Amino acid sequence: MSEKPVVHFDVTDGIGVITIDYPPVNALGPGVADGIIESLEKGEADPNVKAFVMIGTGRSFIAGADIRGFGKGRPKPKKRTYDVLDPCSKPVVAAIHGYALGGGLENALACHYRIAVPSAKVGLPEVLIGIIPGGGGTQRLPRVVGPKAALDLIISGRHVPAPEAKDLGIIDEVIDGDDRDALLAAALDYAKKVADVRPIPRVRDRSDRLSEATQDVFDAKRKEVARKTRGQPAVENAIKAVEAAVSEPFDDGIATERRLFGELETSDEAFAMRYAFFAEREIARLPGMPKKIETPEINSIAVVGAGTMGGGIAMSFADAGLPVKLVDASPEVLEKGLERIKANYATSVKRGSLSQDEMDDRFGRIKPVQQMEDIGDCDAVVEAVFERMPVKKEVFAKLDEVMKDGALLLTNTSALDIDEIANVTKRPDAVAGTHYFVPANVMKLLEVVNGTKTSRETLAAAMKLGRDIGKISGYAGNCDGFAANRSRAPFNIEQGLMIEEGALPEQVDKVMVAFGYPVGPCAVNDMSGLDVSYDTRKRRAAADPKYRGLPITDRLVELGRKGQKTGAGWYRYEPGDRTPHVDPEVHKIIKEVAEEQGFEQREFDDTEVLHRLLFSSINEICKILEEGKAIRASDADVMWLNGFGFPRYRGGPMYWGDTVGAMEIYNQIAAWHQRYGERWKPSALLREVAKSGGKLRELKSDISL
Ligand code: 3HC
Repeated sequence: MSEKPVVHFDVTDGIGVITIDYPPVNALGPGVADGIIESLEKGEADPNVKAFVMIGTGRSFIAGADIRGFGKGRPKPKKRTYDVLDPCSKPVVAAIHGYALGGGLENALACHYRIAVPSAKVGLPEVLIGIIPGGGGTQRLPRVVGPKAALDLIISGRHVPAPEAKDLGIIDEVIDGDDRDALLAAALDYAKKVADVRPIPRVRDRSDRLSEATQDVFDAKRKEVARKTRGQPAVENAIKAVEAAVSEPFDDGIATERRLFGELETSDEAFAMRYAFFAEREIARLPGMPKKIETPEINSIAVVGAGTMGGGIAMSFADAGLPVKLVDASPEVLEKGLERIKANYATSVKRGSLSQDEMDDRFGRIKPVQQMEDIGDCDAVVEAVFERMPVKKEVFAKLDEVMKDGALLLTNTSALDIDEIANVTKRPDAVAGTHYFVPANVMKLLEVVNGTKTSRETLAAAMKLGRDIGKISGYAGNCDGFAANRSRAPFNIEQGLMIEEGALPEQVDKVMVAFGYPVGPCAVNDMSGLDVSYDTRKRRAAADPKYRGLPITDRLVELGRKGQKTGAGWYRYEPGDRTPHVDPEVHKIIKEVAEEQGFEQREFDDTEVLHRLLFSSINEICKILEEGKAIRASDADVMWLNGFGFPRYRGGPMYWGDTVGAMEIYNQIAAWHQRYGERWKPSALLREVAKSGGKLRELKSDISL
C-alpha cells in the first residue's frame, strides 16, 4: 500500500467529504477502495455527518479500476465500494470533474446523486480493453438510461460529455463553469439540500426503464456489431450482462456480470488490448528528451496544398479548434479543396455525428488564401503538396522567406528525405516531417520524422501538436518510408509475390480477414486504386533494370482494371455496389502473366500466407530498431494498430509475434532467406532476441535524443 493516504475524509458543515487523491487520474489503485469504504464507515458512525460528497483531486473524479493490476491474480477485496455506497444510510453525492470512467462511473452510479462540471466526461470503456464493466455498470446503467442506450454506451465505450449525460439521466445537475472548487461548493450545497430526503434514491431499486427492451433490441445489437467486433468476446459478454439486467433481479444480475467479467480478465484479447492501451501512452516518451523542454506555442496554423491530403490535414486542425489558413496557388484547386472539405463535414452532419452549428464553426476556421505571403504570421505550417522532391524544395525555399522566426516548418511526406527538404532553408533546425495517414482527418496516427538537423524543441513541438489535435504521435528517424510505411512495405511485397507464386487474391484476403482485419489487403488495393503507384513503378523500372515491379498488378491496370472505381480490379464489382466478387478473369490474367514471366506457381496453405506477410514485416521492424529509426517495438505496434487497421485484439505485429515465438519466426525467416534470397535476410536483432529467449515486444533501440 502507498505511504501517502490516497483518500482523505473531512467533515465540512455536516457533510462528510471523501476526496480521492491518487494521481495522475485517480484510478482505483491500491488503497483507494479501502479508503472510500473507511471514509463511509467513519461518516456513517458520526452523528454530525448528514450526507456525503465524493470528489477527486487533480484532473479527474475516478478514471476507473487500476488497469495495471489486471490479469495478475489480484486478491479478492473483502468489501467492494459499491456494496457500501449503495446501502449507505446517508445520501452520497458524486461530484464529477475530468473523467468518471469504468469503475469511476460505476462508483458514481452507486452514489445517490451525481453532479458535474460541463467539461466532465463519463463512460464505461471496459470493452475497449477486452473486458466488461465489473462493478455493477451493466446492471445500473440500463436502469438509468434504458437497456438500448446502455448497450450503445457499453459497446462503443465512448466518453459522454456531461451535458449529454444529463439529458440521458446519468447526471442530475451540471453546474456553470469548470472550476473544481466551485464544483465542491456546489456539491456541498446539493448534499445539504438532499440530506433529509427519504427514501434515498438508489439506482438498484429502479426498474421503470428496463421494460423498454424487448429481445429485438439485443438481437439487433448483435447483428449490428457482428462484423466490426469479430474476435472480441467482451462484446457478446457485455450484451449478455445487459440482458441479465432486464431478465434477472438486481443481485442475480450482479452475480452474472461478475461471472462474465471473470471469463474475460485473463483472456488473450484482454491482455493484448491492455498492452495496446499502455503502448499508446509509452509512444509519447522520447528517451533523452528533457521533461520540461520549452516548445513554441501553436495558436495558428497554415496548410500548403488544398488537395485531398491538405484538406484532410486542415480539417484535423479545425476540428481541434485551431484557426487554419489553407493556401494554394491555384484558385481552382483551392475552391475544389474547400468544396471537398465542406462535403466531408456535410456527410458527418447527415450521419448525425456532427451538428450543423459545429460544422459551421469548423468550416469557418479554415480560411482560404492564395499567396504564401499571407501565411507568414502563422505559428506553424504543414506543407502537403505533391509528393515530388523538386516541388517540396521549391515550397520550402519560399516558406523560409515568408514564415516568421520561430515558426514550425512541417512537411507531410510518406517517404521523401526530410534532410534534403530542410537543407533548402536557412533554418533546418525548425523543420520536421509529419506523416499523416489517409484520410488525414480520421486516422489517429501521426508519424513525426526527426531530420538530422531537427532541433529537440521542433521535434517535441511537432509531437505535441499531433497530440493536441487528438492524434497519436509516433517518432521515426529519417529513412526511406520512415518507420510505419517501411515496416509495412515487406508485407506488400510478399502479398504481390505470393500471388505471382500461385496464392489467389481471395485466399490472401480470406486469411487476413480471418486473422482479424476488417478487409483483406487485395480488397483494400481495389479501394485505393491499383493505379496509385503505377507511374512510380514504371519510373523506377526505367531507372533500375534490376527492379522487377509488380507485373500482375500492372497488367490489371493496363487492362483497365484499376479497382472499385472502374468496376474491376483484383475483384469484380456490380454497378453501385462495393461488394467484391471473385472473378475467374483475374485467375486467367494471373496465370498468363506468370507464364510469360516464368513464375512457378503452386498451392499455398493459409498459415504460410499469414506468416509470409507478417514475419516479413516483423523482420523489418527489427531492422528499423537496429538502425535506430524507431524507438521501441511497441511503437511499431501502435503504428500498425492506428495506421494500418491491424486488429487491436492481437496487440500489433510484434505482440502477436511473441505469441508465435521469436525463435520460430527467426528459424522460418532463416529458411526463407536460403530459399528466396536477400530480401529475407534475418535481422541481427531478431536473431539476438530469438537466441536469448526474449520478447519481441520489449525490443528497443538505443536512441537518446
Ligand atoms: N489504470 C491505470 N493507469 C491509468 C488508468 C487506469 N485506469 N487510466 C490512466 N492511467 C494512467 C496512464 O497509463 C498514464 O500513465 P503514464 O503517465 O505513466 O503514461 C496516466 O494515467 C495518464 O493517462 P493518459 O496519458 O491516458 O491521460 P489523458 O488525460 O490523455 O487521458 C483518460 C485520461 C481518459 C482517463 C485515459 O487515461 C483513459 O482512457 N484511461 C482508461 C480509462 C478506462 O479504461 N477505465 C476503465 C478501467 S477498467 C474498469 O474500471 C473495470 C471496472 O469495471 C471494474
